Amino acid sequence: MVGLRRFLMRILNPYRAPRHPWLYRVWQVAMVLGHRPSAEDLAQVRAFLPPSLWPLFEKMPPAEQGHGIRVWRGLLERGVTDPDLLIAALLHDVGKARARLRLWERIWAVVAHALCPWLVERGCRGPAQGWRRALVVARHHAEWSARILEAHGASPRIVALVRHHHDRPERVADRALYESLILLQEVDQRR
Ligand SMILES: [Fe+2]
Ligand SMILES: [Fe+2]
Repeated sequence: MVGLRRFLMRILNPYRAPRHPWLYRVWQVAMVLGHRPSAEDLAQVRAFLPPSLWPLFEKMPPAEQGHGIRVWRGLLERGVTDPDLLIAALLHDVGKARARLRLWERIWAVVAHALCPWLVERGCRGPAQGWRRALVVARHHAEWSARILEAHGASPRIVALVRHHHDRPERVADRALYESLILLQEVDQRR
């Protein structure tokens, strides 16, 4: 597994997703399998996050930490300086850590969303067991993440951005979040 991880990281750039939709899905699976944040990445995140929120990031699985860092860097590359949005980028999927998905479940969630959205719709409504577990987590993790952040003292705006990070921005009642949600979702879907 370590050899495969090294090979994937040698041929792929974890910070540059391919544009082609199919290659992007392959890249996404490779990121779940292979990308681990470096000590330098983690030190930068630690220096940026408020001390009360760092322990949440620290406990996330490495693949989720890698995804959060990619979204954070993606926003920084676009010139975002809004600290609430940048904190939301790092921690928007923290609720997934609650389920501790196995590797095959994480890959299954990526493949199911790419290949069979109808199955995702059916699966996420049943009990969180077997093949459905990853789909239930995909459906509910935004709310779980928001509650965890609220309990750790994150600002109401960070909590709201995280709560709605998979909702259509035009349907979110708080119109002040619109622009930030568009940006967060654009980068989240490509990292
Ligand atoms: Fe998410
Ligand atoms: Fe995400």
